[in-house]
Amino acid sequence: MHYGADYNPEQWPEEIWPEDVARMREAGVTMVSLGIFSWARIQPSEHEFDFGWLDRVIGLLHDGGIAVDLATATASPPPWATVAYPEMLAADERGTSYWHGSRQHYAPSSPAYRKLAGALVTQIAERYARHPAVVLWHVNNEYGCHLDIDYSDAARDAFRRWLLARYGTVDALNEAWGTMFWSQRYGSFAEVFPPRHAPYSHNPGQLLDYRRFTSDMLLECYRMERDIIRAAGAAQPITTNFMGAFKPVNYAQWAAELDVISDDLYPDPDDPEGFREGAFHGDLMRSLKPGTPWLLMEQASSAVNWRPSNAPKAPGQLAAQSMQAVARGADGILFFQWRQSRAGSEKFHSGMLPHAGTQIRTWREVVALGRELGDLPGLPPDDGTARVAILLDWENWWAIENPDHPTSLDYLSLVRGWYDAAHRLHVQVDLVRPTADLSRYRAVVAPHLYLLTREAAANLTAFVEAGGHLLVTAFSDVVDESDRFRAGGFGTQLRDLLGIAVEDFGALVAPGSSGPGQQQARVSGGGFAFPGILLAEEVHAVGAEVLAAFDGGRQAGRPALTAHSSGAGTAYYLGTVPDDDGTGQVLRHLFGAAQVEPVLPGLPPLVEAIRRGRLLTVINHGSESVHVEVQGRDVLGGAVVQGVTLQQFGYALVLTGD
Ligand code: GLA
Repeated sequence: MHYGADYNPEQWPEEIWPEDVARMREAGVTMVSLGIFSWARIQPSEHEFDFGWLDRVIGLLHDGGIAVDLATATASPPPWATVAYPEMLAADERGTSYWHGSRQHYAPSSPAYRKLAGALVTQIAERYARHPAVVLWHVNNEYGCHLDIDYSDAARDAFRRWLLARYGTVDALNEAWGTMFWSQRYGSFAEVFPPRHAPYSHNPGQLLDYRRFTSDMLLECYRMERDIIRAAGAAQPITTNFMGAFKPVNYAQWAAELDVISDDLYPDPDDPEGFREGAFHGDLMRSLKPGTPWLLMEQASSAVNWRPSNAPKAPGQLAAQSMQAVARGADGILFFQWRQSRAGSEKFHSGMLPHAGTQIRTWREVVALGRELGDLPGLPPDDGTARVAILLDWENWWAIENPDHPTSLDYLSLVRGWYDAAHRLHVQVDLVRPTADLSRYRAVVAPHLYLLTREAAANLTAFVEAGGHLLVTAFSDVVDESDRFRAGGFGTQLRDLLGIAVEDFGALVAPGSSGPGQQQARVSGGGFAFPGILLAEEVHAVGAEVLAAFDGGRQAGRPALTAHSSGAGTAYYLGTVPDDDGTGQVLRHLFGAAQVEPVLPGLPPLVEAIRRGRLLTVINHGSESVHVEVQGRDVLGGAVVQGVTLQQFGYALVLTGD
């Protein structure tokens, strides 16, 4: 179990470093991420490299028994680089350049950036590939962070090449984007630009491809660095830090390129439901590389600096949130950052070693957590506990959030609605892409698969026919991979499976607004009673059984929730977006039909129970003390457990099935 943090020794005089190492040992630190923002220190000018300081600090860490996750330092090019090569700066939608003075200001597709980054990584990798302290490589940092989309000239040129590789001919591109609309037809790839500032809506196929291109450019950067590290003879695993479900980067596609998945996680300590974000991150990270432990690469020991108001963590919250990750398969708990900065925009961000010193609660909790993690035995990876999958698809995310739709949908928050409801029911879920192997799941929830490929539809159909229970929700199966309608109306791929036809999407005005067009949608019947928001679709049952109907509003009396048997399984369709309670009602029905059990029965909503193989973790995030019936052996100390009483942020890690 790794324990540690980003370590930025270049921010401190060298005399402090031995004290750092001593304090790290006191805190139980086993590994630090070194050099993430050290480019300017390692390479003070284009033809000058200074590794003496890095040699010394790695040596000190190694002598202190602390391993190094060595970063490639490429996330923040120094000012000399962008002064010499201004073409490597990213640009906004109007083509206006970003400037240095912050971080992540580079254009990922810029040849100048890649050349400089490549040269830097070559030097670092060749120097440290065989250093015994280095146990992991940390490529760049949070790819895509701060700069969702780059519209620079470098991106323009790369986009044209990317389109040529994807479409081969400009005719194929015109066909895919439907450019006969609004006289957008291209005569050559050289006429295509990034979707820069325009008077009105951009072509949706272009917007979707620009998202794909953006993720691909960052992936090219990652691959370039990884390949340089490998070519230098490094045998250590290689990672880059993800950020939960992050729209610009298709992590489901990237996962295969990383040896180890790592995640950065910053739930708001003030949000009583914030722990569900930690749960969601952890379940996603585990699902990205099944059966492989992952790392919580960054979290805060207490407050961050970047919200309008930055609450400190409450007593005990740090350990409880760390155990959420361990419970979900993390084999490392690390922080941003080791020593709180004295200068710079993150000086108010907490560190493991606080600016206020070691006589404060944060330090005591950091030390206690390090001790506890250090005492943990080797834990089994998850062996495939979840019997439920929720589908999360980046390409669908990009397409469904294109403009000019019946209503604006926030895909991630809708997926989170289903995830959070399952979490409240204490059912363990994986988060997987629609083309994943679904054979071990009993129930699959497919929220709003607006963009549905033939391959995904075939996968979902096979899942149901083999006996699975599938729930598809409104505004699904609408377009193909180019964001075009398919011939033959809506629902062309899943119509037979679902036994329904969708005639209209029935947009509702946003909740809380008033005025003309205000429509209410309520779902009732069959034991269901909840409001529907955003959409109340006009659905016709064509073979499906109607479980609940709309009562009131313009779809009054029409199907809202349907079920249709196909092969050995059942496919459900919900033609609206339920509120939280309604989401729970629908899931309870689905899980009942699919015979899915909670991890533990009868837990209150603010208590969670997670399985990682034989390890059962129970955490109380609520303020009321709870007693939980759980039997086994305490992982820490081996005592027999016959039920546990947990105060707020209390947890138990129990080995079951002896
Ligand atoms: C991100 C970055 C870190 C730091 C933290 C602050 O996770 O990777 O460098 O800026 O945010 O929360």
